[in-house]
Amino acid sequence: MSEKKLRVLSGIQPSGKLTIGNYIGAMINFVALQREYDCFFMIADLHAVTVPQEPADLREQTEMVAALYVAAGIDPARAAMFVQSQVPQHAELGWLMTTLSYMGELERMTQFKDKSAGKEAVGAGLFVYPSLMAADILLYQANLVPVGDDQKQHLELTRDLAGRFNHRYGDLLTIPEPYIPKVGARIMSLDDASKKMSKSNPNAGSYIALLDEPDVIRKKIARAKTDLGKEIVYDPQNKPEISNLMSIYAHCSGLSLEDIQARYEGQGYGAFKKDLAEHVVATLEPLQRKYKDIRASGAIHDILRDGAEKAMAVAETTLRQVKDLMGFLLPRR
Ligand code: AMP
Ligand code: TRP
Repeated sequence: MSEKKLRVLSGIQPSGKLTIGNYIGAMINFVALQREYDCFFMIADLHAVTVPQEPADLREQTEMVAALYVAAGIDPARAAMFVQSQVPQHAELGWLMTTLSYMGELERMTQFKDKSAGKEAVGAGLFVYPSLMAADILLYQANLVPVGDDQKQHLELTRDLAGRFNHRYGDLLTIPEPYIPKVGARIMSLDDASKKMSKSNPNAGSYIALLDEPDVIRKKIARAKTDLGKEIVYDPQNKPEISNLMSIYAHCSGLSLEDIQARYEGQGYGAFKKDLAEHVVATLEPLQRKYKDIRASGAIHDILRDGAEKAMAVAETTLRQVKDLMGFLLPRR
């Protein structure tokens, strides 16, 4: 008899173009994990609206992320792919998790501090965002959550909330573990390696979008900032810009950092950047081709409907158990 597979849940917000940071930090692991785990991959649209979104853009970007999931290699026959707002249990458990969260712990979240810094009006949704993220994970009793480094603190909070719930109401919720890549957990901006590469950066030259045309990618890499000196060495402390480019190179070529270092010994940044651009283009071209086919086929809607159905069955079971333990009067079946 085969053992029950462990569960994986993760999500990406449809709040702009996905970048190669999302790909390396998260999506590559989604694809790798789907063979061995019972996977749920979400498009976190309820999270996206914690900052204002144009309705038409939100809809387009939601379809875009879904199609990129498939183009990147997520197999809807193995993994449930769904849109968060189509599974209402997220909003409901999100509220319950909010009531379990402390102001102090939410105030300590660095993503909240970054996103609210200097703003006059800060949406309350931005503040309780991590409680909703905890609900996303706990609804599926997920064991593993593949994310980039920036989500580690939210995962810690999720673990605390699950522990708090179990302590107060009874042992129900699985305490999840983060699953973070060793290299590439934090891909940095091409114009400033002290900042995370982000789709919300107004300077498009700072990121490589997964749907950037090959020539755009070549141009962006040619213009990427480099460090003083000309050696290609992995040294994030002293050579942050080159080290970041090396992480991208490693993921797109399959070579190790040592291999890359050896290959460019005695050569300057020019040769390295030129090859890097071709590795990135070769990685993204097939993904882009597949993306166009999927968008043209319209298949995404069926995939998302099936995914939401599968997700809802699991989510409803957990939510019912949570509500029962908390003392909500459940409707008689
Ligand atoms: P988001 O775009 O904020 O919804 O992030 C979706 C996933 O991509 C999360 O797991 C992030 O940690 C990951 N991610 C986003 N940006 C980067 C980056 N620059 N480097 C590595 N991972 C990233
Ligand atoms: N907060 C995550 C991000 O911005 C997206 C997200 C929402 C998520 N819910 C999740 C990631 C649950 C992992 C698990 O990257």
